[in-house]
Amino acid sequence: MQKESALLNQAHWEKQYDEGVLPWDSGITPPEVVAFWRSTFLKDEDRVGKFAVDLGCGTGTNVTYLASLGLHAIGIELAGNGLAVAQERLRQHTAPMQANTLVSSETNVGQEKMGSQPDVARRDILLSRVALIQASATALPISNVDPIYMLDIGCFHTIHPDLRAAYAQDVCTLLAPGGYFHLYGFDWMEACANDPQKTPRGFHENEVAELFALVLDVVEIQRATASPHPCRWYLLQKKEAHSHLP
Ligand SMILES: C[S@@+](CC[C@H](N)C(=O)[O-])C[C@H]1O[C@@H](n2cnc3c(N)ncnc32)[C@H](O)[C@@H]1O
Repeated sequence: MQKESALLNQAHWEKQYDEGVLPWDSGITPPEVVAFWRSTFLKDEDRVGKFAVDLGCGTGTNVTYLASLGLHAIGIELAGNGLAVAQERLRQHTAPMQANTLVSSETNVGQEKMGSQPDVARRDILLSRVALIQASATALPISNVDPIYMLDIGCFHTIHPDLRAAYAQDVCTLLAPGGYFHLYGFDWMEACANDPQKTPRGFHENEVAELFALVLDVVEIQRATASPHPCRWYLLQKKEAHSHLP
């Protein structure tokens, strides 16, 4: 346990939030995520009232987006001060939330339902659909919610290689059969692995497919614009045969 908490490097992440060094925090849901929800991967009737989980949710931009689609959205984040920012933003920014929502989910059933309601009611509906939990994605404190979608933008690729199997096990167990795991990560960065000041970062060539192979199928892997490092989007789907792992 002691070794695990050292590998998690929570202090590093909390320092980033304390110092406001958040180069990833664009406040915008990536087009790849919006495209997924505009696609036919999941039908409207399959999504409303279902759960989605954002692992390493940071300041909550994408949890808010998922809730705006009519999903119950759970954000998991290791850094307590990152979550505090997420909570504050959720409480405060009704207007930016609406702007983001309208751009990204025109065709969505949950969004249509909210469309005719006054601002305060909209905000309350969104708030009621969001849960933010401080925890490690390598030891998820949730079960039996059967999420149809799990998202990870830039968290898993920073997790120490010794903890990646635990993370993969949790995703495989939690995700509903037929549900999707959507992941963004850098390619493996050898320079970080050899620098004692830095945490190992990125994925080896077939690492993602191999970590999840028994339970999830790879649907697609797309190379993304390097920002600033070579990176990819991975979309995996849980095999229907795996109703639940033992
Ligand atoms: C690069 S940031 C991305 C944040 C967010 N996904 C976004 O796109 O804005 C990585 C996030 O993962 C969080 N994190 C790192 N290790 C984690 C772990 N083991 N469990 C949960 N969150 C973790 C960090 O605190 C940080 O907020």
